[in-house]
Amino acid sequence: MRVALLGMGSVGRGVLQMIGEKDLGITVTAVADSRSALIDRDGISIEEVLAAKARNGFCGDKAISAMDVVTGSAYDVLVEVTPTNATTGEPALTHMLCALERGRHVVTSNKGPISREFSRLREIAVEKGIQLRYEATVGGAIPIMHTLEQGLAGNRVLAIFGVLNGTCNFILTRMAAEGLTYEQALLEAREMGYAEADPTYDVKGIDPAIKLVILANTFCSHSVSLEDVDITGIDRLTNDALRLAEEQQCTIRLIAEAIPDRGILRVAPRLLPLSHPLVVEGTLNAITIETDMAGEITLIGKGAGSVETASAIIGDLLYIRDTHAGRHSKTA
Ligand code: HSE
Repeated sequence: MRVALLGMGSVGRGVLQMIGEKDLGITVTAVADSRSALIDRDGISIEEVLAAKARNGFCGDKAISAMDVVTGSAYDVLVEVTPTNATTGEPALTHMLCALERGRHVVTSNKGPISREFSRLREIAVEKGIQLRYEATVGGAIPIMHTLEQGLAGNRVLAIFGVLNGTCNFILTRMAAEGLTYEQALLEAREMGYAEADPTYDVKGIDPAIKLVILANTFCSHSVSLEDVDITGIDRLTNDALRLAEEQQCTIRLIAEAIPDRGILRVAPRLLPLSHPLVVEGTLNAITIETDMAGEITLIGKGAGSVETASAIIGDLLYIRDTHAGRHSKTA
């Protein structure tokens, strides 16, 4: 199976590294970053591309662009892991639309286009009989989409509750455990690379709300958008609030919740007993799914990170390899 990869940030490099290390039956025929690209229909050398990126800051030929890769190179699956733009979804949205129109599968970690234009993207994928997979957009390494779509197939999802933002969880954990102020804990989260480029997306609850929209659009029958989510962040939370919670054997977590039957779509700080399954520490994410047949299931795991996110992308790639492989292998 031939893969073209757009985006050579931490996720893109993690995906390349794992494809290079594991024998997955995947040939990478093109890569692109924001300034250059490399195309070779027989397969690029992953080692050389990663070395060139580390050495020069770009991966290939500056005369070739990501759009040249999308429209003119030979691939079965486009892996779109360029930086997220939550407002317009661009340029990732255009990359995905072009690949889908060409009848190519798309795998992505890009939250912008999936949260903003999901119906449009899915419609084209369905019409063309190809796969649009986005496991890596929510919960990092946690296989939440596979669980919802395959593992819990036939179940009615009654509600989803989740800790969907590692940065906020890290801040709340550090404030409660070490008595750090909100500002100190946020600084630490930024220094460790957990936060978004603009950390207000994390602390004001926008990032988990975007992830909630993606989840809701996956399991609800009607489509929702960011404007439908009632959002309160953790940016006004004080150490006193956490201390009071502790006095009651409780703590505070930023919880995203979707309860379709009650019309609830909300992100807000919640008081939870210390023994609650969603009280996870540090940058961990946790998601509880309530269903009619399987009852309650909680998944806990790493919500971000290069190799962790690559795990979700590789899972999607192998799903396509095993269920749709070879569909385009004889075409350009
Ligand atoms: N800033 C995000 C978080 C990264 O902290 O969860 C993963 O989407």
